[in-house]
Amino acid sequence: MTLPDFKADPWLLDPMERASRDAITAHQIKRLRWTLGHAYENVPHYRQAFDAVGVHPDDFRELADLRHFPTTGKAELRANYPFGMFAVPREKVARIHASSGTTGKPTVVGYTKADLEVWASLVARSIRAAGGRPGMRVHVAYGYGLFTGGLGAHYGAEALGCTVIPMSGGQTERQAQLICDFEPDLIMVTPSYMLAILDAFRAAGLDPRATSLKAGIFGAEPWTEAMRAEIEGAFNMHAVDIYGLSEVMGPGVAMEFVASKDGLHIWEDHFYPEILHPETGEPVADGEVGELVFTSLSKEAMPVIRYRTRDLTRLLPGTANAMRRMAKITGRSDDMLIVRGVNVFPTQVEEQVLGFAELSGHWQIVLTREGRMDEMAVHVEARPEALGAPGIDTALAHRIKEMIGVTARVVVGMPGSIERSLGKARRVIDRR
Ligand code: DLL
Repeated sequence: MTLPDFKADPWLLDPMERASRDAITAHQIKRLRWTLGHAYENVPHYRQAFDAVGVHPDDFRELADLRHFPTTGKAELRANYPFGMFAVPREKVARIHASSGTTGKPTVVGYTKADLEVWASLVARSIRAAGGRPGMRVHVAYGYGLFTGGLGAHYGAEALGCTVIPMSGGQTERQAQLICDFEPDLIMVTPSYMLAILDAFRAAGLDPRATSLKAGIFGAEPWTEAMRAEIEGAFNMHAVDIYGLSEVMGPGVAMEFVASKDGLHIWEDHFYPEILHPETGEPVADGEVGELVFTSLSKEAMPVIRYRTRDLTRLLPGTANAMRRMAKITGRSDDMLIVRGVNVFPTQVEEQVLGFAELSGHWQIVLTREGRMDEMAVHVEARPEALGAPGIDTALAHRIKEMIGVTARVVVGMPGSIERSLGKARRVIDRR
């Protein structure tokens, strides 16, 4: 694919993508004022939470004032299950999504017609940043349903004027076959499921490097630069990162540009980002790592005020446009494992696994407790062509100890021995 030059072709960008930093700031102040008022007037939770700390939407005059408003988390959304966070009458809610949530009740999100239009336009913008153009074919293998991935990608691709192939997740052999038959230009799928599709190509004797795919838009789970190289090499295509979460909208909150692959531009005309210090909860300066927090700027049905994503990253200045970027997510604060006192992010393990040419990108961590001691096992798979290669287990265990500082037992299994997910991979099994 010839990489689009977004600077030379400004028509590739929306007007707000061409706006100056000052214009973006002015827009954000105006929209934040609206959102704070809308939330306070229409959502009892926000009114109580603001009153409890003695702030009022009128106290917001400049961006720095936002820090005085209370943050929101999953607990608040659960406490108002199912529709208590909606700011419009239920009849105005055109669609509902929910995130599964591993424990307890799901979190429910609602969209008005206008919210759905904004969402589609931002996914369209994201697909364009990946090199997508009207008329291209887009294979959507994110799951359809209450999960925001499938329908979010679908309506965005339609809004851009693409031909959508709504495959959803599953039927992995068929995914590979239809990619060959329907010749999509783009695929939207979790990176881990892309590797399952890769297995299906190989099992069917199809050449994954010979497909029509030009770029893949991967997200919904953390993935590393090592995984990018793995997928780009295997499929001979570009792999770019898309970020989002249901509570804030769904996919398309932030997107990487294919020409620069330098982190994800946050669509700051609709979402105001902050990074909070993980312990003090105070905002930190751009460039410092902490918890990503969003305030929506245009959402009608379910505005979110300072929503704590738990995702860890840092803010960087814009490159493709004046909106800020976020670095690739290293993980969620609640994904961080503490093994014998050492902090471990699963993505750190992925980087080490993919450092071995003999190993595939399928991996899983299993934690157990022997007596008082935590045991960490890293399950990996040998690539078919490297079966029986000696010493990989000790070499990887050594690398993990050296680079991450934790002792792990490495189990090298046969291809296919690690469970495949149809969407987000389950990277950690905690049996402690
Ligand atoms: O995963 C929305 C989505 C669908 C994003 C498709 C991108 C593509 P949830 O199920 O609510 O929504 O999960 C949101 O997934 O807080 C992150 O922890 C993680 N996540 C999403 N995108 C990325 C990414 C969708 N690009 C949660 N990198 C978020 C790392 C990601 N983590």
